[in-house]
Amino acid sequence: MKLEDKLSTVVKEMKPSGIRKFFDVAKQIEDVISLGVGEPDFDTPWHIREAGIYSVEQGHTHYTENAGLPALRQQICEYYKERYQLDYAPDSDCLVTIGGSEAIDNCFRALLNPGDEVIVATPCFVSYEPTVHLTGGVVKYLQLRSEDAFKVTPEALEACITDKSKLLMINFPGNPTGGTMSEEDYAKLVPIIKKHELIVISDEIYSELIYEGKHTSLAHFDEIKDQVLIINGFSKAFAMTGWRLGYLLGPSTIIKAVTKIHQYAIMSAPTVSQYAAIEALKNGQKNVDAMRLAYKARRNLIVDGFNKMGLPTHLPKGAFYIFPDIRPTGLSSDEFCERLIKEQRVACVPGSAFGEAGAGFIRVSYASSLEEIKEALTRISQFVEQFNVKPSNT
Ligand SMILES: Cc1ncc(COP(=O)(O)O)c(C=O)c1O
Repeated sequence: MKLEDKLSTVVKEMKPSGIRKFFDVAKQIEDVISLGVGEPDFDTPWHIREAGIYSVEQGHTHYTENAGLPALRQQICEYYKERYQLDYAPDSDCLVTIGGSEAIDNCFRALLNPGDEVIVATPCFVSYEPTVHLTGGVVKYLQLRSEDAFKVTPEALEACITDKSKLLMINFPGNPTGGTMSEEDYAKLVPIIKKHELIVISDEIYSELIYEGKHTSLAHFDEIKDQVLIINGFSKAFAMTGWRLGYLLGPSTIIKAVTKIHQYAIMSAPTVSQYAAIEALKNGQKNVDAMRLAYKARRNLIVDGFNKMGLPTHLPKGAFYIFPDIRPTGLSSDEFCERLIKEQRVACVPGSAFGEAGAGFIRVSYASSLEEIKEALTRISQFVEQFNVKPSNT
């Protein structure tokens, strides 16, 4: 018997994450500066860690309510009201999940029947496509373009719609591009979403990391608010990736359906993390503000550095990634990253790991110290010099 034959067809066909594949190469080389990871370099602020430790000392070592601690759901809804002026009811419109990752997976499972189409704005976070495939859903790619500052345009959205379209998956501020959408940008999409009765899954995990303007959401438009599911979490804003905590906000009918899956598959999100998250929302805003300031200084330095090298790089307004265009070197994004790590010991991720639309670009994370970024820029410009590219004005 070949165990391989026992695996499900979808899983057999699932490609390993292009990010992981690349890091296996990086691990074998010494003195590598990694600008590849998608997580804050900061540790979780101490008072948040203490709240977690204290909860364990108090004996909070049991399951919680399936949907999450009522006190945490209350805090999440108050936070969304205060920060983003959106009303959600803690008892019916909020589910606490294991990271934004679980919320993404469970939304697809709750909403898709085989053959239903999901319009995915791409290049995008690596989990969207495989988790759609696990449900038998079909991905339709909406290609984000650097000339549109990686925004979803109404024309691009219209072009993806068929009679099987059910969901629109978006992520602003975006991974891997750092792209953002303004209220005016979203307003142009609203009539299309309404007309075609699309359900929008809005991954807002980087909502706290906006450097110009303010974060906005499609849920602000009353006429489609019931068609929008918001995914957010603690990983990026509060530097809490290892605590594995996120949440979903949306209309009660869908939250109830997603909670059914969560109840059987997960039971409840980690209790210690839920207590820490209450502290994060109550008293962590000052830490978020300080980290945002640090990221902004790094962003300015790194964008300037890449443009000076001749690799056009748009100034992202959010998240902690830049997405330089490496086509002037004549290399593919895979070749660029493979040679960069071997020749200069700097790890970045090929844009193609985030979908075909990312080919010709690389994702560079600036969730690293200024010193590391400066050293990495020196090494990358030494690497790029051999290709005789001209400085860019982007
Ligand atoms: C766009 C996006 N969504 C969701 C996630 C998952 O985050 P979490 O740690 O909350 O599962 C990530 C993580 O990198 C991400 O970049």
